[in-house]
Amino acid sequence: MNNTHNLQLDHNGRLRHFLTIEGLSQQLLTEILNTAAGFTGVTERSVKKVPLCRGKVVVNLFFETSTRTRTTFELAAKRLSADVLNFNAGISATTKGETLLDTLRNLEAMHCDMFVVRHEASGAAHFFAQHAAPNVSILNAGDGRHSHPTQAMLDMFTIRQHKGDFTNLKVAIVGDIQHSRVARSQILALNTLGVPEIRLVGPRTLIPAAAESLGVKIYYDLCAGIQDVDVIIMLRLQKERMATGLLPSEHEYFRLFGLTQERLRYAHPNAIVMHPGPINRGVEMSSEVADGSSSVILQQVSYGIAVRMAIIAMALGNNEAIS
Ligand code: NCD
Repeated sequence: MNNTHNLQLDHNGRLRHFLTIEGLSQQLLTEILNTAAGFTGVTERSVKKVPLCRGKVVVNLFFETSTRTRTTFELAAKRLSADVLNFNAGISATTKGETLLDTLRNLEAMHCDMFVVRHEASGAAHFFAQHAAPNVSILNAGDGRHSHPTQAMLDMFTIRQHKGDFTNLKVAIVGDIQHSRVARSQILALNTLGVPEIRLVGPRTLIPAAAESLGVKIYYDLCAGIQDVDVIIMLRLQKERMATGLLPSEHEYFRLFGLTQERLRYAHPNAIVMHPGPINRGVEMSSEVADGSSSVILQQVSYGIAVRMAIIAMALGNNEAIS
C-alpha cells in the first residue's frame, strides 16, 4: 500500500496511528518488536517507569468490555510516564445520545494526545483517525470483528521470544475464526513476518468461506490441523457475535475441538499454546493444558505491556516530530 493512502503512516512512512496490520511492512512490524524488547526490562525494575511520554495525555476510550487490553494499555502508558484518563462508555454521555464525533471533539478540547479506542463497530478506530486533529494519535484496541492489531503484535512478540525466527514455523489458529478480529490481525502479521505455514482449524460453520484467499491451509479436524505445528493459538467462542445454530453445544465443541493434553501430543514436542483470553476452560481447552508447561498464556499478558509501550511511544514520538 502506498504511504499516502495509508492513514496510519506519516509521509515518512512512520507510525502515527495504529489501526490495522494491513499495509504495514515487515520492517515496521520488526521495529515494533525490537522496541518492545527494549521495554521488557522496565517492568522488572523496582521503579517501573521511563520518562519518554512525560507530559502526554493518553485516553482509554472503551465502548466494549475488556480486562487485559484496557489494563495493560493503562499500565503501558503509565510506565512511559504519560497521564492516563479512563473513559468508560457505560457511564459517559454517549449513553445520553452524544455522537462519537462530539465525544472526540470534547476530549480533544481537553488537549489529549492519544486515544486508545475499543468499539463493537468495525471501522470505529478508522473513523476516529479520519476525524482526529493533526497532533492526536489513535490506537485500535479492537473494532468489531475487523481488527485487533496490538493483540496480534503481542502474540508475535511472544512467538519470537520462544521460537526466535518466524521463517521456519508452522502455526495453527484454532476455533472461532469467523467472529475473531484477533485471527484476522494475526494472519496478516504472521504472513508479513514470513511464517511459511499458517493453518486455520475449526468447524465449517466457524471458518469464513473466503479464508483460503488469505494464504492459509484449512483443517476441519483438530488432530490433523495441529500435527507437527510449533505454535497453537486457541480462540474463544465469541458467542456475543454468533447467530444461533452455528454450534451444536459447548460440550460437543470441546469433544471435537477442545485442546486436551492427549491431543497436544500431535503437535511438535516443543509447541507453545497461546490464547488471547478470556479462556473458557473446558470449552476451548482443558485446565490441564491452560495451566500446563506448554502454555504461554500469562506471558502473553505480561508481554502485552512492553508491546503496547512500544506502540504508544512510537506513535507519540512521531506525532511530536510533526507538531
Ligand atoms: C480478544 C478480543 O477482545 O478480541 N481478547 C482480548 O483482547 N484479550 C479476544 C476475545 O475476546 O476472545
